[in-house]
Formats: sequence, structure tokens, C-alpha cells
Amino acid sequence: MKVGRLARWYRWIEYAAFGRALERRRFAFLPRLASAKRVLILGEGDGRSLGRLLALAPSAVFDVVELSPEMISLAQGRTRNSARVKFSCQDARVVSGPAAQYDGIVTHFFLDCFDEDEARHLIAQLANALTPVGNWLVSEFAIPAKGWRRLHARIWIGAMYRFFGITTGLRARALPPIEMLMREAGMYRTEREQARAGLMVSEVWRHVSPTPFGVPRTSP
Ligand SMILES: C[S@@+](CC[C@H](N)C(=O)[O-])C[C@H]1O[C@@H](n2cnc3c(N)ncnc32)[C@H](O)[C@@H]1O
Repeated sequence: MKVGRLARWYRWIEYAAFGRALERRRFAFLPRLASAKRVLILGEGDGRSLGRLLALAPSAVFDVVELSPEMISLAQGRTRNSARVKFSCQDARVVSGPAAQYDGIVTHFFLDCFDEDEARHLIAQLANALTPVGNWLVSEFAIPAKGWRRLHARIWIGAMYRFFGITTGLRARALPPIEMLMREAGMYRTEREQARAGLMVSEVWRHVSPTPFGVPRTSP
């Protein structure tokens, strides 16, 4: 995916299509990282979530991996070149690091840029990078199980993949099964909100840990 000159227009395209709905999804669970110390953000985009997080998590430092130099430049402007943020202009698929080094991870409308195998690999790497008590915030598009909501979501999501395929060369053509891949990686969901008839969701995920009775926790 090469965002290029679309970066400057990204926000306006989003507002035209969804108003502030995507922004509400991104911001929904950011306060869960208020006491975080070290946060990894993948595919941050133009810095809107990062700007909020800098204020919400005053003790945190942020590693941001973003492929687009244009998006990084917008995010640097929005966060006034904060010394608490380190940007890496890199492909997240080839980044690796020590285990359990982040107590917060943020992937907002990022995992949908990949096919199932790529998403599986990325999710496993990220689960490994999260501390046992860390929170992973995910905002994504989703396809409800049935009815008109399913059709509505399929139409929107199909249109978005076509649009980004043409304008950015995005190769993925469909949403990867994010929920299944997160569970495969040993994560469980602690919170979930949805909007626009289930088309978009905000979630918080943590490592599965046994309850005092040895039974794995269940997800909402
Ligand atoms: C759909 S946009 C989402 C941006 C932002 N997180 C949001 O909530 O709107 C996907 C972002 O991920 C970045 N991206 C796509 N593929 C990437 C990759 N392989 N490695 C790092 N960043 C990537 C894009 O440059 C873009 O900024």
C-alpha cells in the first residue's frame, strides 16, 4: 500500500464517507492506555490517535511504525515533533523485536491492509511483543453474521477495497479473519463497541490468562 499524495486527503475522504464515526472508533478505548509506559502503534496514519494519546498517557513513550513518509510528516506536525515519539518509516511485516516490551499496542484500521497469512504473522509478532498485562487496542471494519447488516457491511467494505486498490495499490481484497487470528495468537477480547450497524468496531484485547479456577476467560 502506497498512500503517497492521498495522505493529505485521507482525513477528508474519511469525513466525507463516514463523518466522525471512524474517529469515534479510534478514540473509544484510548483511555485504557492512560498508565502505559511504552506503546507500539502500527500504521498510525496522520497522527490523530497519537496526538490524543500523548495527552492521555503522560508517562508513555511511543514507537510508531508507518510505511508512508507523507503520513509520518503529517503525524509529526500534529504531535509537534514530541520527544516521546519515535517514528520508523518501515514495513511492519519485517519489523521484529524483543518479547514483552510494550504494555500498549494500537492497530487502528491497519490489520485490514493484509491478507490472512500476512495478518496471522503480524498478529503473532505483536502478541509476542505485548507484556502479559498489556492492552492491545484494535479498531477495524467488520462484517456482521447475517441479515441486512451483513449486506450493508459487504457493500461498504467491497467499495473501500476497490477504492484503496486503485488509489494506493493495496493488494488485499478482503478483510482477514482478525478475531480468529487474535484468538489463535492467545489473545482474548475484554471490551467491544460497534457502530454503523456493526460495520466498524473498537476492541480491547489482552493475553489469555487462566482464572483462579484454571478456566480461560471468555470474551464479550
Ligand atoms: C487504512 S490506513 C489507517 C490509518 C490510521 N491508523 C487510521 O486509523 O485511519 C493504514 C495505514 O497503515 C499504513 N501501512 C499500510 N501498510 C503498512 C505496512 N506494511 N507497514 C507499516 N504501515 C503500513 C499506511 O501507510 C496507512 O497510514
